[in-house]
Amino acid sequence: MKTTLVTGGAGFIGSHLVEELLKEGRRVVVLDDLSSGKLENLPKSENLEFIEGSITDRKLLREIFSEFKFKTVFHLAAVPSVELSVREPLKTHEVNCNGTIYLLEEAKKRGVDRFIFSSSAAVYGNRPELPKREDHPVEPVTPYGVDKYASERFVVNSYFLYGLKATALRFFNVYGERQDSSSPYSGVISIFIDRFIRFKNGENVTVDVFGDGRQTRDFVYVKDVVRALLLCESSNEAFGEVFNVGTGRETSLLDLIKTLKEITGVSPPVIFKPPRKGDIKRSYADITKLSNLGYKPGYSLNEGLKRTYLWE
Ligand code: UD1
Repeated sequence: MKTTLVTGGAGFIGSHLVEELLKEGRRVVVLDDLSSGKLENLPKSENLEFIEGSITDRKLLREIFSEFKFKTVFHLAAVPSVELSVREPLKTHEVNCNGTIYLLEEAKKRGVDRFIFSSSAAVYGNRPELPKREDHPVEPVTPYGVDKYASERFVVNSYFLYGLKATALRFFNVYGERQDSSSPYSGVISIFIDRFIRFKNGENVTVDVFGDGRQTRDFVYVKDVVRALLLCESSNEAFGEVFNVGTGRETSLLDLIKTLKEITGVSPPVIFKPPRKGDIKRSYADITKLSNLGYKPGYSLNEGLKRTYLWE
């Protein structure tokens, strides 16, 4: 049986994808160096093989690709910290850009059928166009965003140059179970849910809003992201293409807090702090292109937040 590779499969989004692939009865290999992923994110299954290692280890990649005949590669491994990419651009470049090329080289050589790459809305940077469309200008402002954009081009160009059926997905603000809330640069939903729960448990915590709370994001539930990944894998129209993955809805932090109050039944104190340097005021995706493949977000923000909250 042909096998599916998920790089970064022990991470937040990767582990949800792995779960779904196993449910479909597929054989899955996860390659993850556990730098931000965790073994306990992965389900137990005889159809799952875990390999601890980095996508920058070319010898390891050669071994894995010759041992398994991968049908599909889902490439989700990355150093996800934008902040670290600013402090250590060369180190994160090796993973976030060169790592992608190392994988593409193997995929090409070994005749992998589909290659799906997880890019980011960070490629749009501070461009003013709204909602963000795939053919809008990009202007990544951090090494993380630059590497995602470069990787994206290496990936989709592999279709035109070598016939590798490759696709890149620009994830907007993904949230859901197993997202890490421990760093100040974690996704805002994971941080806020953590504060609401701690407040409910009697802790003296606050919800800190950087700026006036009117900034908006396109918050997309992780299970919808998994559906987008699988849809692009199965679609012949996705070869050599880039797709936004969001909901097409714009939500302000103030609305997010209001919804969390309704779901949790508590109202922790909200403190307004100065805006973050370089913070983007508004962001949401135009998802027409992905919708044309049949994508429709399955979870409202309310539903997604409830599920995330109940899991915590
Ligand atoms: C995301 C990245 C960020 C990157 C940016 C560029 C994540 C978690 N963040 O940021 O590193 O620079 O894309 O595209 O992937 N906020 C609060 N209080 C908090 C935490 C955040 O008010 O405790 C605010 C932020 O200032 C921001 C909003 O919430 O305005 C969303 O923050 P975040 O979840 O970090 O996402 P992005 O800003 O989109």
